[in-house]
Amino acid sequence: MTNHHSGRVEVICGSMFSGKTEELIRRVRRATIAKQKVQVFKPEMDTRYSIKRITSHNGQDFKAVSVQNSEDLLAKVEAETTVIAIDEAQFFDPGIARVVEQLAAQNIRVIVAGLDLDFRGEPFGAMPILISGAEEVEKLHAICMVCGEDASRTQRLVNGQPARYDDPVIMVGAAESYEARCRQHHMVPGKPDA
Ligand code: TMP
Ligand code: MG
Repeated sequence: MTNHHSGRVEVICGSMFSGKTEELIRRVRRATIAKQKVQVFKPEMDTRYSIKRITSHNGQDFKAVSVQNSEDLLAKVEAETTVIAIDEAQFFDPGIARVVEQLAAQNIRVIVAGLDLDFRGEPFGAMPILISGAEEVEKLHAICMVCGEDASRTQRLVNGQPARYDDPVIMVGAAESYEARCRQHHMVPGKPDA
């Protein structure tokens, strides 16, 4: 089996509906063709489609292992693995940043996908730290549902109205509760200085 010369960290970030999981799957498929031993992980709480697969909004999917937290992820890494992909990284505990560094130090290529911003437009979980440590960061954009410009943010809607700043950060969902928006059309009632 061909191996990597050195470990590295790649982050794929951006708003919901920007194609993060689709891009993660594309890289994982290419790595598989290159005969790498790939493992895909996701947090157990992301139950939207299946606990044994990751699925993009456009319906592509790939087999994945659900893990409870960063420690559980590390425990499930197999000896022969050369490429690790992690989807929905924003949902992991802060320990994920160290785990990713540790894997890269073991010559593993780590591909991480996640939301850089929550519905309030604030950094989500350990994503800022993962982004800072990465060799490569790709920020994807969706399309603003109001004006059609590039969308960098995710609007949460509750009964069709913008969710308030003090709403809970974690709420698993898709198009029924969220849409992509540009900076100008992203609304967060109750946000300080907004
Ligand atoms: P996606 O990036 O693959 O579309 O999935 C994002 C998941 O994160 C989805 O289940 C909704 C959830 N989410 C939150 O829990 N809080 C948030 O603030 C946002 C924007 C999304
Ligand atoms: Mg996704």
